[in-house]
Amino acid sequence: MHNGNMNCISTRVSSAWRWMIAAECSEEHAIGGQIMGSNPSTKSGGNALIDLSSHVAIVTGGARGIGAAVARLFAEQGATVVIADMLESEGQDLAAQLGPKVSFRRHDVADEPAWEKLVAETVNLYGRIDALVNCAGILITDAILSFDRAQFDRVLRVNLVGTFLGIKHAARVMVKAKRGSIVNFSSSEGLQGSNSMAAYASSKWGVRGLTKVAAQELGASGVRCNSIHPGPVNTAMLNPTGRPAAELTTLSLFDYMPMRRAAEPLEIAQSCLYLVSDASSFVTGAEVAIDGGLTLGMRLRNRPGGPEA
Ligand SMILES: NC(=O)c1ccc[n+]([C@@H]2O[C@H](COP(=O)([O-])OP(=O)(O)OC[C@H]3O[C@@H](n4cnc5c(N)ncnc54)[C@H](O)[C@@H]3O)[C@@H](O)[C@H]2O)c1
Repeated sequence: MHNGNMNCISTRVSSAWRWMIAAECSEEHAIGGQIMGSNPSTKSGGNALIDLSSHVAIVTGGARGIGAAVARLFAEQGATVVIADMLESEGQDLAAQLGPKVSFRRHDVADEPAWEKLVAETVNLYGRIDALVNCAGILITDAILSFDRAQFDRVLRVNLVGTFLGIKHAARVMVKAKRGSIVNFSSSEGLQGSNSMAAYASSKWGVRGLTKVAAQELGASGVRCNSIHPGPVNTAMLNPTGRPAAELTTLSLFDYMPMRRAAEPLEIAQSCLYLVSDASSFVTGAEVAIDGGLTLGMRLRNRPGGPEA
């Protein structure tokens, strides 16, 4: 069962820092709707609150969607970023856009030798790994009664085993350095279970548990590990045809959410920025729900704040 108190605490922590960061950023970065764009004053480590200029970060799934927003935000705070993804042309284009401190590696998170190579190359090139963001993920939906076994395995291999392999290999470097921060992408489906999500929810609950085990095992070595649990986010995963964000609010999903909209990727990336930075130096094993209130509980019709009948 999901621990409601933990979720509540995590959400409060998340909100507090997000507003602090918003105060440091431009209107373009303001939380709550019209996100994206970039503020010249936050580029090249210009944010006084969080400076990643000495950080080296690997971001899986960084070629598009939330991972791309993470890579962009880290780069804006001065980090050296390695984008690791299967999507070669998107990844190369993004790395070129973000400047010389950002590079792209074609990488399958489910491939263990590929992880050994990626970690070794990163250490050879940059001498360290301060942060790993395990953002790569896939979503395949079906009823349990008809779910294809190979498809079920595939979701677990990418979302769960891929995250495990990333932790295993990057944390070896971090433990030696006695510092590091790992952020794992779970989901609101790692806090609850929705119909058709057998494989995805299983993988994301797995990521949530794995995060806590990693936090336990690595904490004494100065390595932190936390999970992020987004609700719906306006990326290709939720919105493959690229409908305007306003149209998405017609999805029945939003009836159950106090905020009744999808997040933009930057709203999730900001949590990553906090979790990899020293601003979260005492946070480990936490589950940070960034879900517009999706997992708070039932929304009663015709009661204060509830949907109309
Ligand atoms: N979009 C949402 O509504 C939502 C909600 C909750 C959680 N999430 C999670 O957030 C993360 C990012 O999702 P997104 O919305 O940006 O999706 P997305 O589909 O836009 O991006 C996922 C990225 O992962 C990459 N990827 C997939 N398999 C890979 C593999 N084997 N090796 C390396 N890279 C691989 C893809 O190429 C893609 O670039 C995922 O873990 C997802 O489960 C998304």
